[in-house]
Amino acid sequence: MTAVSRIVLSEPMLGGNELTYLRECVESNFVSSAGPFVGQFETEFAKKSGARQAVACSSGTAALHVAMRLAGAGPGKLVAVSSFTFIASANAVSYTGADILLVDSEPCTWNMDTERLYDDVVRRARLGRRIPSVVEVVHVLGHPADIEPILELRQRFGIRIVEDAAEAHGARWSSGAVGGRQVGTVGDLGCFSFNGNKLITSGSGGMVVSNDHAAALRARHLVNQAKSGDDGYEHDEVGYNYRMSNIAAAVGLAQLEQLDTFLIRKRDMAERYGRLLASAPVTRPPHAEWAVPSYWL
Ligand SMILES: Cc1ncc(COP(=O)(O)O)c(C=O)c1O
Repeated sequence: MTAVSRIVLSEPMLGGNELTYLRECVESNFVSSAGPFVGQFETEFAKKSGARQAVACSSGTAALHVAMRLAGAGPGKLVAVSSFTFIASANAVSYTGADILLVDSEPCTWNMDTERLYDDVVRRARLGRRIPSVVEVVHVLGHPADIEPILELRQRFGIRIVEDAAEAHGARWSSGAVGGRQVGTVGDLGCFSFNGNKLITSGSGGMVVSNDHAAALRARHLVNQAKSGDDGYEHDEVGYNYRMSNIAAAVGLAQLEQLDTFLIRKRDMAERYGRLLASAPVTRPPHAEWAVPSYWL
């Protein structure tokens, strides 16, 4: 038996149609974002996540940056962000020039304490202080956040919601007002990452999802240099080169076809860790009764 020296975070598993689709890219000479896999990946991702629209990007960070622009983050605005996350969640806000209000975690999910945020926003409003115009809530390590208090904030104060679901493909709520919905599809915009260490990968890549057709159109506009004219050299605002390439989308699509299998595997691993560590003096990742986590980590 070989000794196990290292347990990796999350290894890519490229045993599906990746090579076949990549061969198609090379044989058709479509390597850039003009190739057909980008649209196919977007359509299939939207279907799988339950969102109406999906726009592919070059990374999860790019997806978050575009989502922040769409949500109206910018100089003078305040954005509430989960404090327990990867730096990209906060960086995407800082790119817009908005100020960040870090919100600490609660023990039930390790995610943003949304009830405390709710109370804080109500208190700020009462005192006439600045309230966040956007909440960026992270579903950290694959566990859905308790989103209902933020939905109430949206209702009461018109606060926009961006879900950072970079680590949580396939995770969902099982009960309550959002029972049955997948993470990323309940806020105004949801963002995913396909970085090499995520549940599914495209090498590097991301996706913005939304149920709002106009928001998706504008996201597509921003990721493609905000082109306005037919010749590709007129631009009506500052845009970005954030498009996903056909090569990345080919890998992403092949990975998406295997998402259900990967999720079963992750949940099985979590169950095994849980069983084997049951009497060990360690804290295991949470599992709220109203959630179906993906157990990315
Ligand atoms: C919570 C979170 N947000 C955002 C990102 C950024 O994604 P990407 O690396 O694809 O830019 C990551 C992962 O890297 C992440 O874990």
